[in-house]
Amino acid sequence: MPTLAQPIAAPNELLLVGAAFKTGIFDTLYETPMSLTELAERRNLDVRALWTVIEALKSLGYLIEIAEPSPSSESVKSGMPSDLAASCAGDGKLALTEAAEQLFFLENSENYIGHALIHTFNVIRSWSQIPEVLRKGQPAERDQEELDIQGFMAAMKKNAKSAVSVIRPCLEGLTPSGLTVLDLGGGPLNYARPFAAEGCIVTVQDTPEVCQLMEKQLAPGETIRFAPIDFTESVVEGPFDLAFLGNISHIYGPKENLALFRRVHAALKPGGRIAILDFVRAVSPMAAMFAVNMLVNTKTGGTWTMDQYRQWLEEEKRYENVRLVPLEHQHLILAEKASQ
Ligand SMILES: C[S@@+](CC[C@H](N)C(=O)[O-])C[C@H]1O[C@@H](n2cnc3c(N)ncnc32)[C@H](O)[C@@H]1O
Repeated sequence: MPTLAQPIAAPNELLLVGAAFKTGIFDTLYETPMSLTELAERRNLDVRALWTVIEALKSLGYLIEIAEPSPSSESVKSGMPSDLAASCAGDGKLALTEAAEQLFFLENSENYIGHALIHTFNVIRSWSQIPEVLRKGQPAERDQEELDIQGFMAAMKKNAKSAVSVIRPCLEGLTPSGLTVLDLGGGPLNYARPFAAEGCIVTVQDTPEVCQLMEKQLAPGETIRFAPIDFTESVVEGPFDLAFLGNISHIYGPKENLALFRRVHAALKPGGRIAILDFVRAVSPMAAMFAVNMLVNTKTGGTWTMDQYRQWLEEEKRYENVRLVPLEHQHLILAEKASQ
């Protein structure tokens, strides 16, 4: 049922706060409170635009001004046009309010949303481009900065509801201790960690940027191995007992998925298992809407039917025993490498 019968408010606050987070304003001020002029210099931002945004963030209760003007901000101001220097007249130190700290940085707070907000902001931005995508058939080119990657990782962590209910059917009938698992696109570690906790020996293959960021987040003693390799080019050499493909089939089109399933086949032991977690078109209720997200963010991505998965897996009888396991929001497709 359409739900837009009631008027909806434009998400102005979300866009303002998301933009501030994305440009590093909150991270910088959380690290060290500083004046507006120092902040503009540190993040390479336009002073007039920053002043307007900061005033709005103060009025909404995200930032406060806490102290006297600092000497270094006076020297920055001396190089500014006089009208802008006048707008920064007080130019005391800016800091996050307690409520903003709880929202963005204190993971144990019940209001915590963290860097996932940057991803929400980016999603809204790309959905606003649907008219252009409809005309051109391609999403706009976008650069990904470190904070975007961090935001994406945080959002993936938030979206991964119950990892245990996902890994249990993947491991059914197998002995987890010592089992070799290849987690393709597993950078956020949502599933790599629970597999490792079961005793599996886990290799995460993801992009170099993601591996570099997430390797630093391993806890002491965590033995997950990272392979910074584009899986549309090659897959880590195995042989593995299990290959887990969590939410990656929707990023690519039929051609890339078929090629990936072939590569995974070569990396599995005979009888080894492939486990694909995704929204399956015509089966998962969210699949049609999720495909729009891929339309505006990827070149060939979308959501695929069970018939398509079956076709890719059963091509040249590579995999057998293809089956669909329903989960709460998504589906798992399981199959074994045929032992010919
Ligand atoms: C949607 S996230 C899924 C994360 C996790 N598997 C999950 O289910 O929560 C997709 C992941 O695949 C990675 N990825 C996308 N394309 C890739 C490629 N060509 N090579 C390696 N990793 C890729 C992304 O960096 C990201 O970490």
